[in-house]
Amino acid sequence: MKSFLAALAAIALLATQGCAPTGSDCSVASPDGRIHLTFALNSEGCPSYAVTFDGDTVVRPSLMGFEVADPADPDFHSGFSFAARPAMESVDSVWVPVWGENDTIVNRYTALNVRLTKKSSSGADRLLNIAFRVYDDGIAFRYIFPAQGSDSLVITDEYSQFAMPSDLTAWWIPGDYDTQEYEYNRSRLSEIRSINEGTDKLGNVSQTGFSPTGVQTSLMLKGSDSLYMNIHEAALVDFPAMHLDLDPSTLTFRSWLTPLPDGTKAVVGLPFRTPWRVVMIGDEATDILASDIIYNLNDPTPYDDTSWITPVKYMGVWWEMITGKSAWSYTDAENFDLATFDYSKARPHGRHAANTANVKRYIDFAAANGFDQLLVEGWNTGWEDWFGKEKEFVFDFVTPYPDFDLKELNDYAHSKGIRLMMHHETSGSIPNYEQWMDSAYSLMDTYGYNAVKSGYVGNILPKGENHYNQNSVRHYLNAIRRAADHKIMVNAHEAVRPTGLARTYPNLVGNESALGTEYQNMSTAHETILPFTRLKGGPMDFTPGIFRTDLGSFAPGNKEHKRATTANQLGVYLTMYSPLQMAADLPEHYMEKPDAFQFIKDVPVDWSESRYLAAEPGEYIIVARRDKKSPDWYVGGVANEPLDYQLSLSFLPAGASYEATIYADAPEADALTNPEAYVITTSTVDSSTVIPVHMARGGGFAISLKKQ
Ligand code: NOJ
Ligand code: CA
Repeated sequence: MKSFLAALAAIALLATQGCAPTGSDCSVASPDGRIHLTFALNSEGCPSYAVTFDGDTVVRPSLMGFEVADPADPDFHSGFSFAARPAMESVDSVWVPVWGENDTIVNRYTALNVRLTKKSSSGADRLLNIAFRVYDDGIAFRYIFPAQGSDSLVITDEYSQFAMPSDLTAWWIPGDYDTQEYEYNRSRLSEIRSINEGTDKLGNVSQTGFSPTGVQTSLMLKGSDSLYMNIHEAALVDFPAMHLDLDPSTLTFRSWLTPLPDGTKAVVGLPFRTPWRVVMIGDEATDILASDIIYNLNDPTPYDDTSWITPVKYMGVWWEMITGKSAWSYTDAENFDLATFDYSKARPHGRHAANTANVKRYIDFAAANGFDQLLVEGWNTGWEDWFGKEKEFVFDFVTPYPDFDLKELNDYAHSKGIRLMMHHETSGSIPNYEQWMDSAYSLMDTYGYNAVKSGYVGNILPKGENHYNQNSVRHYLNAIRRAADHKIMVNAHEAVRPTGLARTYPNLVGNESALGTEYQNMSTAHETILPFTRLKGGPMDFTPGIFRTDLGSFAPGNKEHKRATTANQLGVYLTMYSPLQMAADLPEHYMEKPDAFQFIKDVPVDWSESRYLAAEPGEYIIVARRDKKSPDWYVGGVANEPLDYQLSLSFLPAGASYEATIYADAPEADALTNPEAYVITTSTVDSSTVIPVHMARGGGFAISLKKQ
């Protein structure tokens, strides 16, 4: 019966797909038949697409194309005709990620490949191909410029539109060429302009807004309770990052590329494939969280050997500097030339955290508690002369401070079974980092480092460049590729937001590219939005695990209180997937709560299966995941406002019993007024068990389910 119904559905699908005899428009459907994409050339030869979901319009007819730097004929978006009959194709395959939320990923879609041509007053015919893919969880398209006329094209604008079906609710951050470190706004599309104009821009050291109606991707959208959408891009290679600019009068977004210093957007060698423009679509919020469309749109990895890429749980000599308890720098000296400055003659200020004795203390703790690595920031010279100075040469990435014994500390870590994690703060000076990169990676080889946290704080140098333009995008990928030559994993902060490139380059194990824990006091909604937005492109080094929330209690002068309960900080290890997870707090704070710390020690960072059980952007996320190395399951949740949830364990295999350890908010817990109140209980459970969980404001829960 089932196969008869499936055959009927397939016939129905075929009947609604195909191209009009005139070739003027074509329609393709997702494999499950729920999403339809129509491509058309209008009477002026302008390409456009539109999308329906279960018969309802979700993207109204939206124009496509470019403008190029050719005074004789800049138009690359009208006057087209078909160069060939559009071709359709069905693809159904499975691939195995090196790390991830699931051990296999299904890549199933219907493709429509369009080839366009136009006569140009500037000489040779213009050629533009558009590849569409329609998945069960969304649609995507990319432009392909075949070889033509010249060797390269200078793109001055992209005109991809996303015409929204109605005044949707959006979770958005302001469009910016340099930073994503913002709190999210939730509003109707029509309210974006007024809120954006009034937004406090947080005073990041590098931020460049471009329009009061500009927003960033990934942009989470909601229509009714049965329509969730998300606009992002995939496979951002050799091209500027795409922002969106809204025309409030038509509720239509258009792509807005980050410019080069000369104001043009990109210089592309031909032939060239742009990144994919993607609209995820689902009728449940959990569909967006579970969508693999971004990874599916990226190329398979070209790496022959990926055995050196491993998930990493780490601690860091880090939070003590972030909170102001201690410093990255070694002295109070300023305004010097690193090449000639003599550190051995400078008087240390006595607050340098990355000193040999302190690092050994962390190594002892991290090794004793089963961590893989210890990040050490402030190990290298230059920090005195860094912040906000916009100097070209601040760091050489190879010279340790006098009180950091590079060899002794690495040997000590290795003797205890862990590695140190390298840190490269580039100070935004890309030419300086490019120049030192090979020596920096070679130094890592010499001492046995296999992972680097890099960072791009401040304006990108030389001046005029931006974090998200084509030049910077090229650099970030170059750093990842060159690291791979040394079998080094990369976690880049302040780099461009991820777009699924970790499928192709799985040594890209983390990025920041959003407001992370180092902001200390983000809203209680933030963690319930990031998995719908920033995480759609790839893992975030969010650095959870803060147990002591009154930061002034150990870092005098710090007035911040982290707005998260202890159970929330455990739940985040589940709700924010990353193969790289930090336990960010200080060893002494974990020693105060060894029972809660046990969960951080236990929780895996690589999974064979994940099930998003319930979610609503800005409100709550609950997910269950099965360990890649054992039959054990783990469940986690985070909530913005207090929430009681009946957790059914029906995802467990029938007949098996598990020992559950439940880490929950105490009834009186509250992220703002009583964040450290938690209760831990144990019980024996099976697939018929329902566990009632209470989550506080800014709260959460975490459960380990160990098979008996
Ligand atoms: C910003 C990074 O996000 C943070 O984690 C790091 O500690 C500082 N830069 C210093 O590089
Ligand atoms: Ca940062």
